[in-house]
Amino acid sequence: MKFIVLALCFAAASALTADQISTVQASFDQVKGDSVGILYAVFKADPSIQAKFSQFAGKDLDSIKGSAEFASHAGKIVGFFSKIVGDLPNISGDVDTFVASHKPRGATHDQLNNFRSAFVSYMKAHTDFAGSESAWGATLDAFFGAVFAKM
Ligand code: HEM
Ligand SMILES: *[C@@H]1O[C@H](CO)[C@@H](O)[C@H](O)[C@H]1NC(C)=O
Repeated sequence: MKFIVLALCFAAASALTADQISTVQASFDQVKGDSVGILYAVFKADPSIQAKFSQFAGKDLDSIKGSAEFASHAGKIVGFFSKIVGDLPNISGDVDTFVASHKPRGATHDQLNNFRSAFVSYMKAHTDFAGSESAWGATLDAFFGAVFAKM
């Protein structure tokens, strides 16, 4: 019995169901308009990520947050996140695009894990996350797992 329960848990984590996909898409729809807030949460959680951006390195986060440049970068990053969410479950092309652009930038596993947890904290603060937490977990495992396998 224990074995069967374990096997089922494993199967559920490794493949996304149609239900999980629609849950994640509906959840992301609630926050995708706040790209500045999402990028702010990421930079706040791990200043070493901000430091990789030549135009933002060494600057005070609260003073750059309102700039057009910040909004433009936030829009790109959250726009790509929207693409990933929209492409579920087949995100292999997005994973390849991300690895090709970010491996040369030296984005580390620590930074990516911090990005992930900052995003999850943001979602907890801005949505009713209880109903979508496990679907997001499976989605983020799928994306970051595939990325980590390649960089
Ligand atoms: C956590 C570590 C990360 C670091 C250190 C990092 C760093 C960078 C840097 C330095 C740029 C170039 C900005 C410029 O044009 O001046 C960039 C661009 C970009 N990043 Fe990231 N990034 C990270 C994570 C992510 C994640 C998780 C996503 C989305 C899933 C993402 C999406 C993008 C996009 C769409 C662009 C613009 C297109 C491009 O130039 O590739 N980044 N990133
Ligand atoms: C998944 O997406 C990739 C890249 O966009 C594509 O080449 C591949 O055929 C797709 N696979 C499936 C099973 O749809």
